[in-house]
Amino acid sequence: MSDRYYVTTPIYYVNDSPHIGHAYTTLACDALARFMRLDGREVRFLTGTDEHGQKVAQAARAHGLDPQSFTDQVSTRFRDLADAWKFTHDDFIRTTEDRHVRAVQALWAKLEASGDIYLGTYAGWYSVRDEAFWAENEIHDGLAPSGAPVEWVEEPSYFFRLSAWAERLLEHYRANPDFILPEARRNEVVRFVEGGLHDLSVSRTSFDWGIPVPGDPDHVIYVWLDALTNYLSAVGYPDTAARDYERFWPADIHMVGKDILRFHAVYWPAFLMAAGVAPPRRVFAHGWWTNEGQKISKSLGNVIEPHELVATYGLDQVRYFLLREVPFGQDGDFSHRAMVHRMNADLANDYGNLAQRALSMVHKNCAAAVPEPAAFDAADTALLDAAAALRDATRAHMEVQAFHKGLEAIWAVVGDANRYVDAQAPWVLKKSDPARMRTVLYTLAETVRRLAVVTQAFVPDASARLLDQLAVPAEARLLAHVGDPAARLRPGTPLPRPEGVFPRYVEDAA
Ligand code: MSP
Repeated sequence: MSDRYYVTTPIYYVNDSPHIGHAYTTLACDALARFMRLDGREVRFLTGTDEHGQKVAQAARAHGLDPQSFTDQVSTRFRDLADAWKFTHDDFIRTTEDRHVRAVQALWAKLEASGDIYLGTYAGWYSVRDEAFWAENEIHDGLAPSGAPVEWVEEPSYFFRLSAWAERLLEHYRANPDFILPEARRNEVVRFVEGGLHDLSVSRTSFDWGIPVPGDPDHVIYVWLDALTNYLSAVGYPDTAARDYERFWPADIHMVGKDILRFHAVYWPAFLMAAGVAPPRRVFAHGWWTNEGQKISKSLGNVIEPHELVATYGLDQVRYFLLREVPFGQDGDFSHRAMVHRMNADLANDYGNLAQRALSMVHKNCAAAVPEPAAFDAADTALLDAAAALRDATRAHMEVQAFHKGLEAIWAVVGDANRYVDAQAPWVLKKSDPARMRTVLYTLAETVRRLAVVTQAFVPDASARLLDQLAVPAEARLLAHVGDPAARLRPGTPLPRPEGVFPRYVEDAA
């Protein structure tokens, strides 16, 4: 296993205000980044904003602003979202920054030098909403496959020789079977490429909000070639001798929504191979959320506003729901009922009560300090071992972005622990066998410690509070400490008064 990890979100178009889709993609990356840090890896987690192109230029005009002032204003909304959701990105890139412009122009120069770019004329369909060229056979009833309107475009344009790369892309997919996940999406991409690729228009001349083509400033570079390059700009490209580039490229994963997989799994690796740059190790396409069974759209007025979501249910609760409710990669439905069910059943009842019961009993019956255990019996050992095994189990699930399975494995141990409390009935042992009670309470507190270390990637605030309540030092909260005998709770350690960390959602009486 490598000791470093580079994870990226798509960079978001600034024409729109942030919605659940943006928050979801970044959340998935945040959980990965936090997990890999827990696992002792050096992480680079990149997010940012996509600020060029016709769509953003049109939005700026509609607001009566020049594109640069418009993007300066609206890109802060994406930073604010990242702050409100406490995302732990290490870098936030904007495509209007100098470091990015330099990288895009350098990549262009490479493609030109390798003979992969030529000048021609584009005549075909374009969708401004998707910022995508669509082939004739992809247009149905005047709409792109995404449902976006298209317009006919005819203009001088540079082309990238994508058609020449189909065979090498297929070879790359074959040699790297988990380059594209999930598998069903991979198969779609393979079929698309097997169908043959057209050369791709990579410059526009009908507007100027973009990065000029080196040596031909009548053209601006196609916004997707521009945007995709952000993953390289942020690690210092074209300075390939820079520490960041050497350490972090190729990226371990580009996380994207299913709607933008083609750009990331076909165009991007082709550009990179043509420029002599290694493709990323993985592109993962996640599914889309609906709201109470309905497609989310501005015109339906059912957009889920990320700030509101967190204000209503709480940040850890929303994180848990989004990562647990849906097998990652599939589409999911957001509903108030399902959200409340998850937060009350899994968090408040199962995990929250377990911790609260265990810690309150310790507080009351063991003089507010970690109790001294006697010999562990088979039930104690079974529970402690199950909790220790979570290190490897969650690691395996996170390697393939199976957040839901990681959480399922953790909650199986939460369930074991709750059954253990009921079976051991420490409140009975208090009178009949206090030494055994102390062993049971120790086992429980130690199990909660192990759980709380692992849950940090998913419900970070509550986990940190649990670890505080167990007086676990900040430097002993890594995955390596889960089953480490030296990291076990020390008998006699004073503990603060326990407090619940997962409030229940109570419906308004009205
Ligand atoms: N700017 C491009 C990405 C360039 S990356 C080099 C872009 N931007 S976007 O703002 O439209 O990004 C949207 C992201 O949010 C995509 O990953 C998309 O899949 C995701 N979602 C938008 N609506 C969504 C849902 N309803 N549900 C889940 N995610 C969805 O595309």
